[in-house]
Amino acid sequence: MELPPRPKLFDFHGVSMIHHFTDNWENIRNFQARPDDILIATYPKAGTTWVSYILDLLYFGQTAPERQTSLPIYERVPFLESDFHIIPPGTELADKLSTSPRLIKTHLPVQLVPKSFWEQNCRIVYVARNAKDNAVSYFHFDRMNQAHPEPGDWNNYLQRFMDGKSEQCVYQLRQEYSVQCVFLQDTRRELDRLCSFLGLSPSAEEKERVRGGVQFDTMKKNSMANYSTIPIMDIKISPFMRKGKVGDWKNHFTVAQSEQFDEDFKKKMKNTTVQFRTVV
Ligand code: A3P
Repeated sequence: MELPPRPKLFDFHGVSMIHHFTDNWENIRNFQARPDDILIATYPKAGTTWVSYILDLLYFGQTAPERQTSLPIYERVPFLESDFHIIPPGTELADKLSTSPRLIKTHLPVQLVPKSFWEQNCRIVYVARNAKDNAVSYFHFDRMNQAHPEPGDWNNYLQRFMDGKSEQCVYQLRQEYSVQCVFLQDTRRELDRLCSFLGLSPSAEEKERVRGGVQFDTMKKNSMANYSTIPIMDIKISPFMRKGKVGDWKNHFTVAQSEQFDEDFKKKMKNTTVQFRTVV
C-alpha cells in the first residue's frame, strides 16, 4: 500500500495540529457525548493505550471476551479527532459503538474537547507522564508513524517539543469536573484508583487478570494492542510498545538538555501540584 506523504504541522486555534486531526472538525465539534461515556484524555505518548486497555478489560473483559482477539484497540476505543483515511474517522467509529459505557480517546487539549462531554458531565480519565520520558517516546513514535511530521534529529526535536506545547492544569479541571488523573507507572495502584473513581468493584482475581493483560510484555506481543495491524506505523523502525519504562529519558538527554528542560518545566508547570516520577 502506498503511504501518503507526511503531514505538516500548522496552527489551529493556537494549538499545533496536523490535518488528520482537523479534517473532520465539524463532526468533532458537534459530537454528541452520552452521559455514561468515559473520555480518555491524554497528551500523546503518556500511556493512552495502557489505560484504554485497562478500561476495556475492566468493562468488557468478562462480558465480551471475543473483543480481545477480534478487535484492535483503536476500534474498541475510537480516537475521536482522528481521520487517517485508512479506517473510518473517530467520530464515526464512536457513533457506531453499541457498548455502554463507550470508551473514547482524545489528545485534544481541554479547550478543544467537544462541549457535549462537559454538558453531559462525562467522566474523564486523564493520563499524565513525566515530560522527559514523554518527549522521548513521542520522538520515536514520530519516527515510525508516517501520519506524523518527520521528527528530524533528537536535538532539534527536543527544542521544538519545548517550544510548541502548552501545559494543562489537571487539578483545576478536576475540581470542576469528574476527572481522574492516573500515571503510567504502577498498574496495581492505578487500577485501584480507577475502580474507585468509576465505582467498580471487581474481585481480586478479576483485578489480577486485568493487571496481567496490561503488562508491558503481554501488550507488546498482542496484535490487538500493539498497532502492528495499522499500515501507517512501521514497528520495524520503532515498536509502538517500545520500552514502557520510567527513566528512559536518561539515554537521550544530555546533562545540558536535562537542565534546560527542568528550567522550562518549572516555569510552565508552576501552577500544578502534580508530582511526576522521573526515575525508577
Ligand atoms: P515508550 O515509547 O516510552 O516505550 P500512548 O499509548 O499514549 O501512545 O503511549 C505509548 C507509551 O506507553 C510507550 O512508551 C509505550 O511503550 C508505553 N506503554 C504502552 N503500553 C504499556 C504497558 N502496558 N505498560 C507500560 N508501558 C506501556
